[in-house]
Amino acid sequence: MEKINFIEILILTIWLMLPAYLANPAAAIAVYKDIAPTPIDLGKKIGNNRILGDGKTYKGLICGVLFGIILGFIQSQIAPTINLPVFSISAIIALPVGSLMGDIIASFFKRRINMERGASFPLIDQLDFVFGAWLLTFLIDSNWFLEHFSLPIIISTLILTPMFHLIFNIIGYKIGVSKHPW
Ligand code: CTP
Ligand code: MG
Repeated sequence: MEKINFIEILILTIWLMLPAYLANPAAAIAVYKDIAPTPIDLGKKIGNNRILGDGKTYKGLICGVLFGIILGFIQSQIAPTINLPVFSISAIIALPVGSLMGDIIASFFKRRINMERGASFPLIDQLDFVFGAWLLTFLIDSNWFLEHFSLPIIISTLILTPMFHLIFNIIGYKIGVSKHPW
């Protein structure tokens, strides 16, 4: 049986998920000094509730995606020198786009069940962007996805992401970038 190297899996998980992970704080940082950035739903409602809410903005989406794409390119440039996986062009785009799409879809459902912007939805808040990033990457480059997201990496992502999310949100809250510590 192949020996499982936990440190290697940890490093690979962070490396592969980084463009998806950092798209979210990049979105939050991009808008945090704006008084009223344009919301994606343009303030429209379905029934009594906003379609998405003021927490999903064009500026956040665009800046988060651009940041994730730039990061993916930089990672791919340095990957060979540190012996880590290179991202395909499709993956570089799909990881941050899928990440922020997953986040938007989760907000849509949060509003439908009367949860206000920023309300905590345990596990969904921590994993919506993971599933979004995985799904879109799988759809547009299944070869790259299946080559790199082996079962151990999938499992480690599902365990580590909520932990990272919590730690980074507490930091974001303390420095004033996120409005809630979750
Ligand atoms: N953000 C943004 N545009 C996006 C995603 C995020 O402007 N597409 C910014 C918003 O300022 C948002 C912050 O990043 O408040 C944190 O994102 P998130 O936690 O996903 O939003 P919430 O405010 O918690 O809103 P929701 O309840 O809809 O998730
Ligand atoms: Mg939130």
